[in-house]
Amino acid sequence: MKKLVRFSLAALALLLAAQIPNVSLAADKKLEVFSWWTSGGEAAALDALFQATKKADPGVEIINATVAGGGGSAARPVLQARLAGGNPPDSWQTHPGWELLGQYVPANYCEPINDIYQSEGWDKVVPKDLIDLLTKDGKTYAVLAGVHRGNNLWYNKKVLEKNGIKVGDKMTFAEFFAAAEKLKAAGVTPLAVGDAGSWATAQLFENTLLGTVGPQGWTDLFTGKMAWDHPKVKRAAEVYGKMLAYQNADHSALIWYQAVKAVIEGKCAFTSMGDWTYGEFAKAKMKDNEDFGWVSHPGTDGGFIIVADGFTLAKGAPHRQEAITWLKVCGSRDAQEAFNSLKGSIPSRTDIDKSKFGPYHNWSMNSFAKDKLLPSCVHGAAASAGFRQAFNDAVATFVVDKNADRLVKALAQAAKEAEMAK
Ligand code: GAL
Repeated sequence: MKKLVRFSLAALALLLAAQIPNVSLAADKKLEVFSWWTSGGEAAALDALFQATKKADPGVEIINATVAGGGGSAARPVLQARLAGGNPPDSWQTHPGWELLGQYVPANYCEPINDIYQSEGWDKVVPKDLIDLLTKDGKTYAVLAGVHRGNNLWYNKKVLEKNGIKVGDKMTFAEFFAAAEKLKAAGVTPLAVGDAGSWATAQLFENTLLGTVGPQGWTDLFTGKMAWDHPKVKRAAEVYGKMLAYQNADHSALIWYQAVKAVIEGKCAFTSMGDWTYGEFAKAKMKDNEDFGWVSHPGTDGGFIIVADGFTLAKGAPHRQEAITWLKVCGSRDAQEAFNSLKGSIPSRTDIDKSKFGPYHNWSMNSFAKDKLLPSCVHGAAASAGFRQAFNDAVATFVVDKNADRLVKALAQAAKEAEMAK
């Protein structure tokens, strides 16, 4: 009898669910979010978004689908297999620009979410430049939870103080190398790199490239107006090679956040990395301007390499209604304030309360407002997936052979194959 009652209740629930669209059964009230946020700072920030979602959607069970490794290089192939196999998560982390618009949208994996932008009033509070990076043919395909700055050089303040090194508002390569020499002589490893995933050292090269060619050169390279085997690119490779001479010996065994840990522990002095690094410092209870400091990567003052994090709505999302609530939360003011304080990025909304953020975030918000905004190649915004892969591979080869001519040749060849020239 009991069995029968249970059965008929389940049948009734199924019947109701079938008849009322967008109402999920309690047991089916799930949400699967895919990302590569597994480091201490990343996981804490992601959890802030999840907590806000649980508040907005009581009873929702969140499936936290992550693939570790950072930068997404290990996660994206897993995601791609799921998408191609018709088994999408409800929502996944993506970078604007090429990664979203050149990869996921043409493959028909995402639903446009213009109606959410309208109902939430996001068009009025998110800069148009950012919305444009998420929009194709008038359709917007993701909401940005935050905007990272990629071209930062972070340092352990106490280590530098102990060695009599002062960093000003900006830094030249000459100043970096002078500091690195001093540190090396004192037995401190100057530069921490964790390129177990080659994207992290590719990011060091990306930052050094911007520091050498400048914002205009950057734009010219990615629009085909400047050749990738230009002498300035070769110069960037040489400077990058010189920086590598100061990196930790175990760089290829470490993930990016383990390199940050070496800075936190004072084993290394500097690391060149996007401001998800801030999340690791915050998790370790390090304080802005007391325990750690930052400056634009040498030569890149005045430029802001955008590494923004968006979330999509999967076409055929298994839990569509929950996914929509999730996206609304990601774009909301409260959740963006909580999430970005922990993640290191700045909110994509401009109507947030700046006083809720500390010195680093205010510095970054100020840079975002006044500097040249440039798309990242390593993080998928500036060029196709094919070029990004070739870029990372060419840099990985350079780490071993230090051959600048070979590097620029490989980049020029990749640009040709990607038909980068307009
Ligand atoms: C980037 C991502 C950031 C951060 C970083 C390291 O691609 O946009 O949010 O997580 O990778 O994992």
